[in-house]
Amino acid sequence: MALIKFDDARTAKYIDPSVKKECMELAGSAREVLRSGTGEGSDFLGWLRLPFDYDREEYSRIKAAARKIRSDSEVLVVIGIGGSYLGARAVIDALTEAFPKENSGTKVVFAGNSVSPVYLSSLVEFVKDRDFSVNVISKSGTTTEPAVTFRVFRKLLEDKYGEEGAARRIYATTDKARGALKSLADAKGYETFVIPDDVGGRFSVLTPVGLLPIAAAGIDTDSLIGGARAEAEFLDKAEGLQNPALQYAAVRNILYGSGRAVEILENYEPGLHFITEWWKQLFGESEGKQGKGIFPAGCDFTTDLHSMGQYIQEGPRIMFETVLTVEDPVKDVTLEATGDDLDGLNYLAGRTMDFVNKQAAEGTAMAHYDGDVPVLKISFDALTPECIGALLYFFEYSCGVSGYMLGVNPFNQPGVEAYKKNMFRLLGKP
Ligand code: PA5
Repeated sequence: MALIKFDDARTAKYIDPSVKKECMELAGSAREVLRSGTGEGSDFLGWLRLPFDYDREEYSRIKAAARKIRSDSEVLVVIGIGGSYLGARAVIDALTEAFPKENSGTKVVFAGNSVSPVYLSSLVEFVKDRDFSVNVISKSGTTTEPAVTFRVFRKLLEDKYGEEGAARRIYATTDKARGALKSLADAKGYETFVIPDDVGGRFSVLTPVGLLPIAAAGIDTDSLIGGARAEAEFLDKAEGLQNPALQYAAVRNILYGSGRAVEILENYEPGLHFITEWWKQLFGESEGKQGKGIFPAGCDFTTDLHSMGQYIQEGPRIMFETVLTVEDPVKDVTLEATGDDLDGLNYLAGRTMDFVNKQAAEGTAMAHYDGDVPVLKISFDALTPECIGALLYFFEYSCGVSGYMLGVNPFNQPGVEAYKKNMFRLLGKP
């Protein structure tokens, strides 16, 4: 059974059924290229099998490290950028309380995803009088942002716990053999976890890159992997219109071909904000090359309806929307009647906030479709590890298919080096 559902009813006036049928066949062929490993970038298809084939011994070490961190650290500082942080951040934000109780466990915070002196100074202030550990994550082991940030936190840990004590609080996730971080970790005796050679950063959330911080946040990683596995099994077998990932890939390519060059991923749950950020990297870095690719944008609704709503409703018709829908909010608030009804809201008495949220989503989709914006919908049951695991895999799978349909190599990122060359020159790197 599919954990992730896809609905494109609100593209009917843009997509002729015969075109969709043709494009679904192309999506099926692209899936064959992906499955058979015969396309460009096939050295980086390790993510396809991650929910099934992973190093069990390493996974046990991840769980043990997470237990240790939860027992000896109030804070875990996760240092990484791009694919080396967005997946963990997305899952943790989606599955943990926005307002946790005092002393309710290790707080996972993120660093090294910018070079902001203000953010770094504030985080140093926040952790310095607390017990903390560090998970530094870098596949290349040489990325500037996490490397300089790690230097600061390593010193802080060594000053606080001594060199040996610090070494027991530093976990390095990196390449199995190469890079400055691997050499440093070996020299200092840090516990290390491996980023597989055949998994690119943006596809690495189900490797130790994501799993250690996610487990340290107290999230059930077995269920997360289980959800991804169930979705993988389903997507591998489902044919044609039964396959939501193929449909999503086909429909977005049809819309792109008709001039819709921007896709806005929208949510109605603030906890999904970083799922959008992760998705932006996944699709943007996979498809934006050779002068091609849909620009992935994101909005948090209803918040952004009060800032971006005007543009979407009446601006240039360059976009389509994909709405992420959580069917069951798990927690809810029921509105009560008041005797005076001074705010005029008694008509909602007995209704839940979820009801209000769902009507906002439906009203918005209707208005945007009427305003000439195609609206796709991706839904799942609830904010659970199973569903989030399935959602991550669903997007990765459709991204691989979609990239091949577009005619690009979805698994490289040659363009991200350009700014680094300039920065190194300006910094005077030898
Ligand atoms: O997807 C990618 O390749 C990038 O976003 C990288 O993950 C990011 O640049 C971090 O690289 P690294 O893990 O080598 O430090």
